[in-house]
Amino acid sequence: MSDQWIPPSQQRRGLDLAALGVPPGRYVHPDASEFLDFPGGSREGSARIDSYLHREIELDALQPTEVEFVRQHFLKCAEEQRRKCITHFETKVPRRYGAADPNPIARAWAQSVVANPDDTRSLLVVGPTGTGKTHYAYSVLRAIAETGRPTSWAAYTAADLYAQLRPRAGRDSEATFESISGTDVLFVDDLGAAKLTEWTEEVTYRLINHRYEQCRPGIFTSNVPPGQLRDVLGERIASRLTEMCERVTLKGDDRRKGMAA
Ligand SMILES: Nc1ncnc2c1ncn2[C@@H]1O[C@H](COP(=O)(O)OP(=O)(O)OP(=O)(O)O)[C@@H](O)[C@H]1O
Ligand SMILES: [Mg+2]
Repeated sequence: MSDQWIPPSQQRRGLDLAALGVPPGRYVHPDASEFLDFPGGSREGSARIDSYLHREIELDALQPTEVEFVRQHFLKCAEEQRRKCITHFETKVPRRYGAADPNPIARAWAQSVVANPDDTRSLLVVGPTGTGKTHYAYSVLRAIAETGRPTSWAAYTAADLYAQLRPRAGRDSEATFESISGTDVLFVDDLGAAKLTEWTEEVTYRLINHRYEQCRPGIFTSNVPPGQLRDVLGERIASRLTEMCERVTLKGDDRRKGMAA
């Protein structure tokens, strides 16, 4: 019965991957019989590995070669998963930002997001035109992919977001809203780039408020100087962004000028 209470002592435990030195994840178990082909493999070892995988015995009941067999299997799975995450990122990232390299702060934020998604403040990346806000945001998404922890993300400029969500015959804009607002990490670029109308303000408010209430991490960028956020985005949105975000301020000249031929 699904609603039956099971005492914690009898609940099925996952394997302690940390004890094996394997990054967290949900991996397919090894086939214990393949231990026979592993250097130092034996029938008894294979049986012990099977018992361990069925949680009938603890890890310390295994011989070192048996632990190594299990460890190598899970490390291979973790590496495959990491590669899949990076490939997924690379197929979705806009070409211009595909090579954006995360700095240590971006990597630390990414680690925090995958380890404690509900307990990691969002990022508000601010700075004048061309200082690298979009570049920075995509570098953070790359850092998340490089952790190898499957994490869904959606990235929109505010203008594209409004285009997606504008009610249109034959499209369920509420379902689109739910799918965008429910993603693990939401990146909205260029907040406040255009003057908000009553409708765009309401959509932005609903989205930010949803993420705020659910304590879900996001990355927001804006050209609007922090002191003017309230005027441009409205009190309700600016207030929530202030509480839920850590600010990353990018300074300097418009990098595009330096790139002009
Ligand atoms: N750290 C960086 N290293 C190398 N190139 C960078 C870096 N940051 C930004 N760039 C490049 O500089 C250009 C401008 O960056 P980006 O588009 O991120 O600026 P922005 O702040 O988002 O600008 P806007 O306010 O107009 O949206 C892009 O070509 C980008 O690839
Ligand atoms: Mg930008």
